[in-house]
Amino acid sequence: MTADATTGPTAGPTADPIVDLAALGEDFTRDPYPVYAKLREAGPVHRIRMPEGADAWLVVGYEAGRAVLADSRLSKEWRSASPALGVAQVSSGRTMLSSDPPLHARLRGLVTREFTPRRIDQLAPRIQEMTDGLLDAMLTAPGRDADLVESLAFPLPMGVICELLGVPFLDRAQFRELSNTAISSTDPGERAAAAKAMPAYLAGLVASKREQSGEDLMSALITASDEEGDRLSSEELLGMAWLLLVAGHETTVNLISNGVLALLTHPDQLAALRADSGLMDQAVEEMLRYEGPVETPTYRFTTEPLDIGGTLVPGGGELVLVALSDANRDPARYEDPDRFDIRRDARGHLSFGHGIHYCLGAPLARLEARIAVRSLLERCPELALEIDPAAISWRTGMLIRGPHTLPVSW
Ligand code: HEM
Repeated sequence: MTADATTGPTAGPTADPIVDLAALGEDFTRDPYPVYAKLREAGPVHRIRMPEGADAWLVVGYEAGRAVLADSRLSKEWRSASPALGVAQVSSGRTMLSSDPPLHARLRGLVTREFTPRRIDQLAPRIQEMTDGLLDAMLTAPGRDADLVESLAFPLPMGVICELLGVPFLDRAQFRELSNTAISSTDPGERAAAAKAMPAYLAGLVASKREQSGEDLMSALITASDEEGDRLSSEELLGMAWLLLVAGHETTVNLISNGVLALLTHPDQLAALRADSGLMDQAVEEMLRYEGPVETPTYRFTTEPLDIGGTLVPGGGELVLVALSDANRDPARYEDPDRFDIRRDARGHLSFGHGIHYCLGAPLARLEARIAVRSLLERCPELALEIDPAAISWRTGMLIRGPHTLPVSW
């Protein structure tokens, strides 16, 4: 059964009919916020058909979303998924993000110390150096315009995570294509093929790292797996490499792109930030809230029936998705939520998730965004958008929110 998402379903014990988000096509991809808001007004949980092809229970609103993210009755393990869902695993190997306790704590514990705010702050000079190099290249190329995604937003976080892991530069283009397809394609066949190609690619990386070990994180993880095989199996090693590389490729790029887009389409906010760079930390939080890179986070599966705001979601591996983009624009949590306001207190947003799976890379992402945006504004006093915002082509699928390209001039 298909309902018009703009009229909204009635939340109830059966939450029927299905809201067919796939049928909304490009309109939903371009601007999902009003669709989520309409659903939120009708209730916190809805049966939906995703553009990715599967049916799921979508949780909207801040309170319900936050509660569901931390609900231990939902499993992140693919084996908990009902076979009837027809969803394919996109990750390679075994990852903390697709594990429940106690395995989750063991995998996360192996890398936690690398990502503490203190440890990450030590990377600031190197991140600044990489940013300066990218901006030098952008500003000295012929012409006075560029695609900001290609010139800065993508290569900076990718360069940082590759350097942290010790992955060679040459491998990056191929990984980017595989990663993009596995994460954002709405064609299940394409997604599955990319996910299948990934383990072989990563195994190659691990093999060459074994030969040329260094001071990097990948070498440390390989040592952990070689010396203490019971702590990190080879499947877990591949999973860790996959997760960190994909997180580095797919998320911070969109924090920088979406954030710069928000500034360029809100000249008063841009002027305020230029006038007082002390507002930068707050501005980045507002960028995360207003247009965060993760629209709905990774899949959760029911292990028992779950009552969400009066709607009973059955047990047995049903797929539950939380609309982070909507939680962050819930008027019950943020006043005038559709307004981009760098002076507001945006803390508490759910852009990095919540609960045990809260983003490990949050300090790194924040640092990269602050350095990138500050340096860009300093070097480009006349920065302007070179595309009608309505004409921007957005990443497909419900996981990632970000533009394919962002043409700017200076
Ligand atoms: C702005 C950039 C980023 C955003 C918006 C973001 C968002 C998220 C979200 C929402 C989750 C939770 C997913 C869920 O509960 O289903 C998550 C988890 C995670 N993120 Fe990030 N992320 C970003 C950058 C990064 C970076 C740069 C790294 C690594 C270098 C990273 C590593 C991870 C890892 C390892 C997890 C899994 C944590 C766990 O399962 O315990 N993220 N991220």
